[in-house]
Amino acid sequence: MLKIGVLVSGGGTNLQAIIDSIESGYITNAKIVTVISGNPDAYALERAKKHGINGVCIRKKDYLDEDDYLNAMAEHLDSLGVELIVLAGFMTVLGKKFIDRYKNKIINIHPALIPSFCGDGFYGLRVHKAALDKGVKVTGATVHFVNEETDGGPIILQKAVYVEEGDTPEILQKRVMEQAEWKIFPEAIKLISEGKIVVEGNKVRRLV
Ligand code: GRF
Repeated sequence: MLKIGVLVSGGGTNLQAIIDSIESGYITNAKIVTVISGNPDAYALERAKKHGINGVCIRKKDYLDEDDYLNAMAEHLDSLGVELIVLAGFMTVLGKKFIDRYKNKIINIHPALIPSFCGDGFYGLRVHKAALDKGVKVTGATVHFVNEETDGGPIILQKAVYVEEGDTPEILQKRVMEQAEWKIFPEAIKLISEGKIVVEGNKVRRLV
């Protein structure tokens, strides 16, 4: 059983999609052993509580420096035997040391088709605003492994979503979540938990 730690900062709808996929039996070989939030008021912590999942708040500002903070986070994850770290709307940048320590063990979801509308500064509604400003007709979401380059790690899954006439960043964000994020994030976790994802250099090969 793959032990997962989910890192969150906000609403936690992606966390909810993962919880639901485990409870419904879509994901059978993984369990969430902890949810970590950098924000004590994150609704994601409520969601964890409602489902009997251990939820903690680890705040950067409570530590001497970034190193100290990330060490505390790693200690917590390691003490629970976490094997896969899932960034589900986690807004704090993880340092290189942390990322190297968990090489190919951290996954993230980005609300666009990488390499479009990604990298530093592309988060939340800004991503969807940039897509609309460019006038793309198709956008989507990407699940990828995390490396030191923002949104730059090996791509695991992507799903396209059509842009429609009259879309606002808010409307598009909702459609991308419903049609892509809440589907491919659980799917990626399922595949990883079944040993069907192999990283080869900067690419992912999916075993059938
Ligand atoms: C999602 O749009 C995700 O793609 C991005 O942050 C947002 C998190 O939303 N990384 P939620 O907290 O899962 O509702």
